[in-house]
Amino acid sequence: MIKIAVLVSGGGTNLQALIDAWKSGGLRGGELSLVISSAEEAFALERAQNAGIKTIVIARKKYPDIRGFDSAVADALAENDTGLVVLAGFLSILGEKTLGAYKNKIINVHPALIPSFCGKGFYGLRVHKAVLEKGVKVTGATVHIVNEVVDGGRIILQKAIDVLPDDTAESLQQRVMKECEWVLLPKAVAMFCNGEEKI
Ligand code: GAR
Repeated sequence: MIKIAVLVSGGGTNLQALIDAWKSGGLRGGELSLVISSAEEAFALERAQNAGIKTIVIARKKYPDIRGFDSAVADALAENDTGLVVLAGFLSILGEKTLGAYKNKIINVHPALIPSFCGKGFYGLRVHKAVLEKGVKVTGATVHIVNEVVDGGRIILQKAIDVLPDDTAESLQQRVMKECEWVLLPKAVAMFCNGEEKI
């Protein structure tokens, strides 16, 4: 059984999609065993607790630099025998210790079609605002491996949707989440659990 740790920072709708998939038997071979939040007030913590998953808060703002924060994350993952790390709306950057210990074992969901609208500074609603400003006609979401390049690791899954003429950043974010992220992330995690993707 692969122990899965989910790293979150906010509302946790992607975490909820994983919980729903797990509870309905969609993550066979895997177990959601830990949720780490980089923010104390994240609603994702409540979602985890309601599902009976252990939670840990490692508040990013309590650490002066990435190194201390990253070290605390790496230690928590190791103490809980983590086999796969899933970044689900996790808005902090990881450092050498975690990336080194979990090479090819960390995946992230990004709310755009990488290599567009990604990298440092492209997160949350900012991504969708940039999509509208550029005037592209399709957008979507990407699940990829996390390495030292922000949003730069191997792509595992992508899904595209049309940008509609009357879209706002908020309406686009909602559709990208519902039609792309909440579908792709459980699917990618299931691929790691059933051996289709190597850990
Ligand atoms: C999601 O759209 C996720 O893709 C994005 O933040 C949102 C969090 O939603 N992540 C990034 O932008 C990371 N670069 P959630 O907390 O409801 O899952």
